[in-house]
Amino acid sequence: YLAESLTILVIGASGDLAKKLTAPALYELYQRDYLPKQMTIVGYARSKKTDEELRDAWRPVLVKKHKGEEDRIDAFLSTVIYRRGQYDSAEDVKGVFDEMEEREQADGQEVANRLFYFAVPPSVFADIGSAIKEGALSKTGWNRLVVEKPFGKDTASFEELSKTINGLFTPDQTYFVDHYLGKEMNQNLLVLRFANSMFEPLWNRHYVESVVITFKEDIGTEGRGGYFDSFGIIRDVMQNHLTQMLALIAMDAPVRAAGEDFGDYVRDEKVKVLHAIKPITLDKCVMGQYAAPDDGSMPGYTEDDTVPDDSVTPTYAALVMYVDNPRWAGVPFVMKAGKALDEKKVEVRMKFHTPAAAAAMFPGIRVPANELVLRVQPNEAVYMKTNVKTPGLAGAPVATELDLSYGSRFDDKMADSPSAYTRLILDCLRGKQAAFVRDDELRAAWKIFTPLLHDIEAGKKQPIKYKAFSRGPAEADEFVSRFYKRDPTYE
Ligand code: BG6
Repeated sequence: YLAESLTILVIGASGDLAKKLTAPALYELYQRDYLPKQMTIVGYARSKKTDEELRDAWRPVLVKKHKGEEDRIDAFLSTVIYRRGQYDSAEDVKGVFDEMEEREQADGQEVANRLFYFAVPPSVFADIGSAIKEGALSKTGWNRLVVEKPFGKDTASFEELSKTINGLFTPDQTYFVDHYLGKEMNQNLLVLRFANSMFEPLWNRHYVESVVITFKEDIGTEGRGGYFDSFGIIRDVMQNHLTQMLALIAMDAPVRAAGEDFGDYVRDEKVKVLHAIKPITLDKCVMGQYAAPDDGSMPGYTEDDTVPDDSVTPTYAALVMYVDNPRWAGVPFVMKAGKALDEKKVEVRMKFHTPAAAAAMFPGIRVPANELVLRVQPNEAVYMKTNVKTPGLAGAPVATELDLSYGSRFDDKMADSPSAYTRLILDCLRGKQAAFVRDDELRAAWKIFTPLLHDIEAGKKQPIKYKAFSRGPAEADEFVSRFYKRDPTYE
């Protein structure tokens, strides 16, 4: 595609998503020479704005992240223009591309590829989608759509969205983003699991006792209360990001990890995992909502101006599910996620059974179970809790770590590692869909969560208050400990 011309239409260009995530990712691709020479980024939205105003709005985020690259950033921004238009007007969108055609054909270019980036709420997908279909498709190259969550709020609303999008575009034109799939450690799962004979044969119920997927943020909803309150933590990160991680952890090996059909091979395996999970019931879930901390340094969730005083939306949840297939039957997969907690961390913890020999060989000594930990962020790492003999004259086992910290092992690569969005947009430009979510995965994921979400909304269970910057409700710790007991040695 590098030899062809490219127009990227960023729909909703005046918004936060475009500024904070899309623009920096496009810059990182530009900076690494992954964008074609003949390229225009067109910011599109309803408000009145000049090219220069859009560039000025995008520049500070780029300069902050890439200090000392001001000239390069300006060169990048010179490829950015702004065009105003209505989302439901095929005429407006067509107007933009009538103008673009000339640029696309500069230097005798014959192939024009077009990427439509939807940085807008789903309520306008249908309008803008139809407008694009009517007025903006390239006839000489590919047309691709990048769509951001939320992909509905439950099974029914997802079906509606899916019908709209599938009615307009083909699956190979549609790229549903879950940015967690673009994170280094999640991309690493395929290699870690299937390219290592010390992991691959153990990755099942015979060796694994439990799997815990944890998402912790140490900030509250911070001005996003309006959006968050109608979604809650389960929709915000569990039904999508953590479920996608679970699918990558639990899936069987894809037929191949390269080649044209790779995307479907991976997604076929992921969707099978999701189909094997029964819908979560209320008794398998504990919820929380943060209150102001003792020192009053932050308002409680319901004290946020954008949140109703009597909101019962969960900002924390812990739940358990089972993958009912031969590989995983009986192994609990626990998910914990919360806002305003004591730390910022995303990790997966896989606990193994203690070998039978340990109890017989070391009577009276507690031999901790092995654990494999994948730290997704911050500071990507893979480490393995392992028992070794206490060094020296003593002989008792002692727990230690085989530790692969990316920051120290791959310091040169990690210093300037691309954002998840950068990887994903590049995949989209290359036509690789493996790290995007397929329609049937979204449907299967909603089926797991929809009954629970409806029960919560019907008021059948209320969140328990927890103090901001704590571990979350004590009841959640107690609940999780039924499925996963952390060894006291592992602090
Ligand atoms: C988003 C959620 O999808 O993911 C946010 O809407 C959350 O609430 C964010 O903070 C987390 O992403 P990351 O990449 O910062 O871990």
